[in-house]
Amino acid sequence: MKIACIGAGYVGGPTMAMIAHKCPDVQVTVLDINKDRINAWNSDSLPIYEPGLDEVVFGCRGRNLFFSYDVEQCVAEADVVFVSVNTPTKTKGVGAGYAADLAYWEGAARMIAKVSTSPKIIVEKSTVPVKTAAAIEKVLSHNTGGGVAFDVLSNPEFLAEGTAMSDLEKPDRVIIGGRMTPSGLKAVQTLSEVYAQWVPKERIIATNLWSSELAKLTANAFLAQRISSINSISALCEATGADITEISRCVGTDSRIGPKFLNASVGFGGSCFQKDILNLVYICRSLNLNEVADYWEQVIKMNDKQKRRFVDRVISSMFNTVKGKRIAILGFAFKKDTGDTRESPAIDVCKGLLDDGALLSVYDPKVSEKEIRTQLSLPAGLGWDSTKHPFVQQQASEINTKIECHANVYDACKDAHAACVLTEWDEFKSMDLGKIYASMTKPAFLFDGRNVVDAAKARDMGFVCYGLGKPLDKFIMGDEFNR
Ligand code: NAD
Ligand code: UDX
Repeated sequence: MKIACIGAGYVGGPTMAMIAHKCPDVQVTVLDINKDRINAWNSDSLPIYEPGLDEVVFGCRGRNLFFSYDVEQCVAEADVVFVSVNTPTKTKGVGAGYAADLAYWEGAARMIAKVSTSPKIIVEKSTVPVKTAAAIEKVLSHNTGGGVAFDVLSNPEFLAEGTAMSDLEKPDRVIIGGRMTPSGLKAVQTLSEVYAQWVPKERIIATNLWSSELAKLTANAFLAQRISSINSISALCEATGADITEISRCVGTDSRIGPKFLNASVGFGGSCFQKDILNLVYICRSLNLNEVADYWEQVIKMNDKQKRRFVDRVISSMFNTVKGKRIAILGFAFKKDTGDTRESPAIDVCKGLLDDGALLSVYDPKVSEKEIRTQLSLPAGLGWDSTKHPFVQQQASEINTKIECHANVYDACKDAHAACVLTEWDEFKSMDLGKIYASMTKPAFLFDGRNVVDAAKARDMGFVCYGLGKPLDKFIMGDEFNR
């Protein structure tokens, strides 16, 4: 069997590498129009950082795993074509700010139809709005010259970045949605057999197309909702003296609720949660289900509030101004164990601080200086509350003079008035607080947006310490001081 995958990104690369690793008889080729990305996949330095990825890729590459930008030729030869292109939120036109932009998907489908001369199974790997398969079927059937037969399957991906390889190796489930026709059922069977080479059969769920597509949006919405729920309670904890870690423990031990995704944070980030919920909201509004749309939109609003709340806490605690003060930003990726910064809460927090005149010293173990500068020069995020707290878009040249990037925690914190932990990297749990405190301007503030630092120890050292959702230090200004 020959598999081609259009899109060599965070999903296409690792997913195909795992298939090649587990199915030595299958030839897998990952394709992209971005030549730099393909060259990086073919080099010693892969384009994405993911624990365990290098070993798998280096083990299979050149044997049954290939990376190429000869997209049309490889698609023409494939039996199964995964499409794992980006489906970002539309920024212009109908549905801007909410709907998924399917332009990349449609472009891929038109190309598949144009070059195909043999029957193929087309697999939706990208996260798409429910009913996309119907649109794709139309694009394919109206554009194929020689009456080539296509079966479209939905096979959403549930991997999380940072744990992608273990998620792919031991998935909770694999969902395969198809048409309930003889050829649709056969296509589902063909793809199931690929996964069955390493996934237990009871974890491979065959279902219909629309349920599969909607299950992906629903899963992300539920996960994000749990984070917004616990984050909403973190604000209440700070106002009452309760402790969010204790709340998570007490609530999460209820077996009906479970302990996962109850870590309060400075906000969820990543390329998926916000985009997919906005898409869900758009679909609901299009179907006149306005209360359903409002319900899910609140998850995003809560997340925006959490980021703003953190910025306000920093500013109000530091005597209501951070103008000209240096603030160390510890962590810029949207979560630990990835170099991905897409929708990272650190971006909005940094912009909020820059907006108030702060100078930033940023350190992240996996994010490059170029990436940090690029992200901070782009316009503010979609949901930032621009009416109450207008964000003045500073020029990239002006922003660049206010940011320093450092190679380690200690350099970033030197002479800083405050340090903000924004990503839960393991190394922040064990950093030398005494050494950091000694090098900082006093009073030295520590704002922990991930609750990874030992706050009691930090206070003993002399820090004024804020832990998200924790009882407030007497030097930390309460909500009454917030703007
Ligand atoms: P990505 O931006 O990292 O990769 C997409 C790639 O597709 C890019 O390299 C782009 O150049 C390429 N591409 C676009 N159009 C193309 C075309 N016509 N021909 C060839 N290549 C083309 O995106 P990603 O993070 O891998 O996400 C891909 C999809 O998977 C999205 O729909 C996303 O919602 C979904 N998803 C992502 C994650 C995640 O953790 N990142 C998890 C589950 C699902
Ligand atoms: C998510 C889904 O988990 C995955 O199934 C889907 O395929 C893609 O989207 P990802 O965005 O890579 O994966 O990472 P995830 O672990 O879900 O974290 C998303 C964000 O939520 C991160 O910013 C993380 O720090 C935050 N988070 C997560 C919390 O703030 N608290 C938690 O308890 C869990």
